[in-house]
Amino acid sequence: MKILGIESSCDETAAAVYTDDGLQSNIIASQSIHEQYGGVVPELASRAHHKTIWRTVRQALEESDSNIKEIDAVAVTQGPGLMGSLLVGLCFAKGLCLARDIPLIGVNHMDAHIYANFIEHRPKYPFVSLTVSGGHTQLVQVTGPFEHELLGQTRDDAAGEAFDKIGKILGLPYPAGPEIDRRSKKGDPLFHDFPQALLHEDFEFSFSGLKTSVKYFLEDQANIEEFLSDYLNDICASVSEAITEVLIKKLRNAVEHTGVRTIVLAGGVSANSMLRRKAKRLAKEVECELHIPKLAYCTDNAAMIAVTGYMMAQRGMYSDMNLKPFANLNSSER
Ligand code: KG4
Ligand code: ZN
Repeated sequence: MKILGIESSCDETAAAVYTDDGLQSNIIASQSIHEQYGGVVPELASRAHHKTIWRTVRQALEESDSNIKEIDAVAVTQGPGLMGSLLVGLCFAKGLCLARDIPLIGVNHMDAHIYANFIEHRPKYPFVSLTVSGGHTQLVQVTGPFEHELLGQTRDDAAGEAFDKIGKILGLPYPAGPEIDRRSKKGDPLFHDFPQALLHEDFEFSFSGLKTSVKYFLEDQANIEEFLSDYLNDICASVSEAITEVLIKKLRNAVEHTGVRTIVLAGGVSANSMLRRKAKRLAKEVECELHIPKLAYCTDNAAMIAVTGYMMAQRGMYSDMNLKPFANLNSSER
């Protein structure tokens, strides 16, 4: 079986080919146009997807030594994401399926982040996934393929969103997560004790208070510019400490509550070095097997869509041509 995967939910146009022998190609065209705006501009994202999607798909086919005629099904991100961006990928995928008379597979982007762990490994079920991206923060119990139970999620900002918004306050370019991570390695995580919200709740998260607290902390300084130039790395490290401590604490709650023996991390924030380090320590303490995708499969990519599509195809989970994109998780149909 040979699956073409297409991802276009946000600001990466991506395509990948996955077969019985594993991942054959994984192409990503990132959209640099958003940098000057300090965040993703939906209209510009849709246009950029439209411009690059064919080139990206063709490259994924070429790199996998595949002809379009050999593709057995097209897997495409159905949601959540930006509606205009999703429509570009979805319509392109439908066009290919109609032209080639092959089935379509609509993939849930958050599920795909979790199954990115299957590109290189075979995590044992049941497991708990800490899925942390720019738009979502969730603890999910996965009892079998596509059998998911949501244990808890964020009440406001997602973890990645917190990194990005706090980065903006600190004057860092978008997306700030990777830059805060880089600076944290050179800073003191105990420099300032930023709040860790909802510690008394089992599996729920809240990160918007942290953002406000960083803002007030800066405003309390006599000279913000000077303070930032002296202590930016320390502030970054303290922010990372606050975010990752909460994530790990809730992950520990979820593991203890469910009794699973396997943990997986998923989503863009699982690229964070402090989180990866703490997750390894936690896994050792609670004697669980830990899986974290390699960096290229943490942030948005099409390999995760292709592998999820492959697993869905094996189970006959095909979509019909009326498949509709969805912007939010709560409007999704599993
Ligand atoms: O999964 P993803 O690529 O896109 C969504 O589905 O949202 O996640 C993007 C998020 C951004 O907020 C970005 O700042 C964050 O992941 N991110 C990181 C790191 N790399 C990406 N956050 C912290 N540390 C990182 N190394
Ligand atoms: Zn994502």
